[in-house]
Formats: sequence, structure tokens, C-alpha cells
Amino acid sequence: MAFRLPTSQLYRAAATPTASARPLLFSLASSRHPPRQLRLLATPAHPVTQNNAGSKGPTAMVFLNMGGPSTVDEVGDFLSRLFADGDLIPLGRLQNYLGVFISARRTPKIKEQYAAIGGGSPIRKWSEYQCTEMCKILDKVSPETAPHKPYVAFRYANPLTEEMYRKLLADGFGNGKGGRAVAFTQYPQYSCSTTGSSLNELWKWRQRLEGKAGPLEDGSDGSIRWSVIDRWPVHPGLVETFASNIEKKLAEYPEERRKDVVLLFSAHSLPMSVVNRGDTYPAEVAATVYAVMQRLKFSNTYRLCWQSQVGPQPWLGPQTSTSVEEYIAKGQKDLVLIPIAFTSDHIETLYELDKEVISESGHADTVKRVESLNGNPIFIDALVDVAKTHLDSGITCSSQMGLRCPGCKSDRCLESKRFFAGQQTLPGH
Ligand code: FES
Repeated sequence: MAFRLPTSQLYRAAATPTASARPLLFSLASSRHPPRQLRLLATPAHPVTQNNAGSKGPTAMVFLNMGGPSTVDEVGDFLSRLFADGDLIPLGRLQNYLGVFISARRTPKIKEQYAAIGGGSPIRKWSEYQCTEMCKILDKVSPETAPHKPYVAFRYANPLTEEMYRKLLADGFGNGKGGRAVAFTQYPQYSCSTTGSSLNELWKWRQRLEGKAGPLEDGSDGSIRWSVIDRWPVHPGLVETFASNIEKKLAEYPEERRKDVVLLFSAHSLPMSVVNRGDTYPAEVAATVYAVMQRLKFSNTYRLCWQSQVGPQPWLGPQTSTSVEEYIAKGQKDLVLIPIAFTSDHIETLYELDKEVISESGHADTVKRVESLNGNPIFIDALVDVAKTHLDSGITCSSQMGLRCPGCKSDRCLESKRFFAGQQTLPGH
């Protein structure tokens, strides 16, 4: 794997810019070279542009995420969509009734929380920034699929999947014109309740807005050709971003205490009914944690905890908040919290971890949280590398996505997976 080549070989490859030089982005980033310089090293000498015959672009790059209300007034709609989603919070046949009831009850409290973090979630700002920056670099390192056009599709907040899909059509994709789009999940670890739910929603709007496309002379139906980046839990750039953020935070502790700080990785929890259905998320989150600890050479002890449980049913534990309380009660007051399953700040970091878990611990000076990935240039390069590798591969989705959970009974899962796995392989692959 290119990421493991000795640095000297990487430099030699970079001196002769070819397609094979592209995977250097991360090896060199890990070697602490400035990311901008890396991008230049990785740019082919004679870039092909959209006007050259070789370009297969434009390519729509669509970031999928749950989203969050950008203003306090959007909280009610956000919660009602969230609790109506049986892929995320399975409430059975009473989903519609219970979902409305729970969201209405929770809205005033959650509005206060969003007001306390500045009046809205920054997830839209960060998602649009990350996608735009990634596309700019992709235009340089992947001229054959340029131009890359950034889109964001949220599951529960604006811009919703429907809005994004209508924008794609208005921008000239589909509608008999074909074109390529990549659905790029911003949940690095796959869960049927997060990425799976977003893909089910994307498939639903694809069927509604393009389902009746007719055959064209070239044999295609003129609809958008989709491929999916469905998981990237141990990508070296993702691991490097987490690890370097942890190192920065550890450096804030006095040297004599630093090695005894306990690292508490925190991921959004799942209802046990989802876990027991056979969801891949717990294993993939654990894979990220282990990869980060390997990169840190196991410098500190660590645990993986789970946060944000709601409702009376059992959720995967241990809970982050009680883990912090219990470690403090045992005398372990130096703790670093690491949000490991989201790619930007959101209510669960800015409110739940910062204002509840840390502030209420009574030890805000020794219990700290690492930065979220947000606009970190190492992370932007990671996104570029994940996307470039996918674009080069010609695959429609990972083989793992084709396997349903052993306990899955959802026709929506079946149809959506069948659709994405069945999208035609791209020309030239
Ligand atoms: Fe996992 Fe349907 S719930 S594949």
C-alpha cells in the first residue's frame, strides 16, 4: 500500500508526477509536510481540463450526513424528521405517532441547547466548506473527472436530499443528459441507521424524480449514474487527523502527567435492537479507535464509550457521561474526550460533551476534548484521497454494502442496496 512506502521512495515518485503519484497525499501529510505543498507535488504536470477530450466530468460530489438545524427555528422540523426515521430510531408500528409525540416534547429543551451553542448547528457550514475544498483539489489531482461540483444532502435538515436532487437536475445532471454523481458518506463508519438511512432516502428521491427515465440511443436511460463511498473507517488520513489532534491536546497536560491521561473515544450510541440486528457500526468504530491507537503507538490507555442515548429502550454502552463520572470517582481526573464518529462539530460535541459532560464533571481543567475535524487541512486531504481512490476504482460501492444485516426485514434496504450495487460500472474500468 502506497501509504507505507519509505519516505525516500515517496519523494522519488513525487518528482515524476504520474497517476501513481496521487496516493502520496497522505504519506507525505503524515510526514508533517504542509498540505498545500503536497497538493502541488501530487498535481500532474499537464492537467487535462473539461475542454480536453479526456475528461469524463463533470462529476457531482454529494456529501451525505444527518445535518442539524442552522437556526433555532428549524429545531422542530429537524426533530420530527429524526424521530420519524425508523432506520435511525425504530419505534415499530407506532413510529409516526410516537415520533411526533417525542419530537414535540423534546423541541423546547433542544431549542435551548442550540441557542446555547450560538443559535444553530455549524454542520452545514463545515460540510459545505469541506466538500467545496475537496472539489477544488480534486479538479487538480483528478482532471479526468473534472470539474467536480460540490453538493450536500442532509437527512433531517436543510439542504434535504430532495432539495439536493432537484438542484442536481437543475444543474444539468440527469433528465436525459446522464452524468455521474458520487454519494460520499460523511459517517466514516457504516451504520444502517446513518449512511444506510441516507442512501435509502437518496434512492427514494431518485425513484421519484428520475424513475421514469426512458432509454437513449447510447443504451443508457439518461438518468444520473450513481456510485457510493459507503465507509472509510481506517483511512490513513482520517486516522492521522484524529491522532495529531490527540497529540496536540495531550501536549496541554504537564509532561509528568501526560502518559497517564486516559483517552476516552466517544461515538454516538445505537439502540441495542439495531446492534442485535447485525449493524456493522460498533465494529467499524472500534476499528477506527484501534487504528488511531496504533498510530499513537498506544502511548496512553483508552476506552470507547457511547453518547446521546434517547428514550427508554436499551442502547449500546458504556455511556460517555457515566464513564467520565466513574473514572473521576476512581481518582482518574485527567481525561481526553475524542469524538470519533463525526467529521465536524455539532450539538453532541459543542453542547453534550463541552457543556454537559465536561462542565458538569467538576474538573473542566483536567477533562478536555480534542478539536473536531472541521476545516483541518490534513482532513481535507483525506477526503480528496478517499474520493480520488473511489473515482479511479470505477466501483459502484463496497462489496460489504451488498450484504444485508442478518436481522434486516426492510424492503427499502433491499431495493436501495440492489439499486446502488446494480449501477453500471463506469466506462474505462
Ligand atoms: Fe441493515 Fe437493512 S437494517 S441492511
